[in-house]
Amino acid sequence: MLRDDDVNHEEQKQILELGMKFWKDRYYSRPFEGPQAVAVLFDKPSTRTRSSFSIGVAELGGYPLVIDKSGSQLGRGEPVADTSRVLTRMASAIVWRTFGQELVEEMAQYATVPVVNALTDEFHPCQVLADFLTMAQHRGGVDALKGQTIAYLGDGANNMANSYLLAGATAGMNVRIGAPNGYLPANQIVEKAQQIAAENGGEILVTTDAREAATDADCLFTDTWVSMGEESEYAIRSKPFWKYQVNDELMALAKPDALFQHCLPAYRGKEVTASVIDGPQSVVWDEAENRLHAQKALLAWLVAWQREDSSLLGECATQH
Ligand code: CP
Ligand code: NVA
Repeated sequence: MLRDDDVNHEEQKQILELGMKFWKDRYYSRPFEGPQAVAVLFDKPSTRTRSSFSIGVAELGGYPLVIDKSGSQLGRGEPVADTSRVLTRMASAIVWRTFGQELVEEMAQYATVPVVNALTDEFHPCQVLADFLTMAQHRGGVDALKGQTIAYLGDGANNMANSYLLAGATAGMNVRIGAPNGYLPANQIVEKAQQIAAENGGEILVTTDAREAATDADCLFTDTWVSMGEESEYAIRSKPFWKYQVNDELMALAKPDALFQHCLPAYRGKEVTASVIDGPQSVVWDEAENRLHAQKALLAWLVAWQREDSSLLGECATQH
């Protein structure tokens, strides 16, 4: 899975249902028993993705082979294609956090095992699966996701915004992005999200008005105003975002039972106030835990299809 729209509505539901199963029983399925290895590569820092894939692969019965860029030949310029050809001979799946989306696409092109995007500059699909799993847990199940209104405030041109647009549209949600001019999502992503939303009964709204985005939403999301690799632009980038800070006033515009989520790491006093992220509507620790359950579900689902092993997923597979 390289981007959120690599799966359709039904497939996304299957993965989330499986995530619910792993949430209830961490050892629900162990497709990597052996152990088989899953290569997990990092070209950027990580706490949650690193721990959830490492622990998750182990709980699936496998061996997580975690490699940092500085410790691999990729970091010295070995081609992505060659790295892929090697890893695909040894590992049962490849997970990669890197910069450009074209890099994970190239990795997938040369791999015969599933490749998972663990964050690129353009998308963060694993995070949004965890976020939707969190909503499902708090809203009474995966079926409750369709028709929910989600609002993301902040950098509308970053990986999280793109992923909410595509994954939210796939889920049949109403997706709102509230972002300043200069940080709005690319037309190409918005158009793709609109097309998917039309198929699944949702609506897409992109606005520079944070209040319009937040009003009556079921869940508010934000993310850092400065993504990994943009640190030197902090002073310039943070200026236009203050109106999009998720604070008590903005939270009060959402539905009374609205949830607050943040992929983390969070910068209190910047994109979110401490009163919101540490407040009663925040579910960010469930969200962080759900990285584990959602990614285990994704890996199990992907290898089941890869191996044409319908017994691995039980009822999920037979519905496909
Ligand atoms: N949310 C997220 O991907 O966190 P890490 O950068 O710590 O992996
Ligand atoms: N937009 C952030 C997400 C971190 C999980 C980044 O790319 O740094």
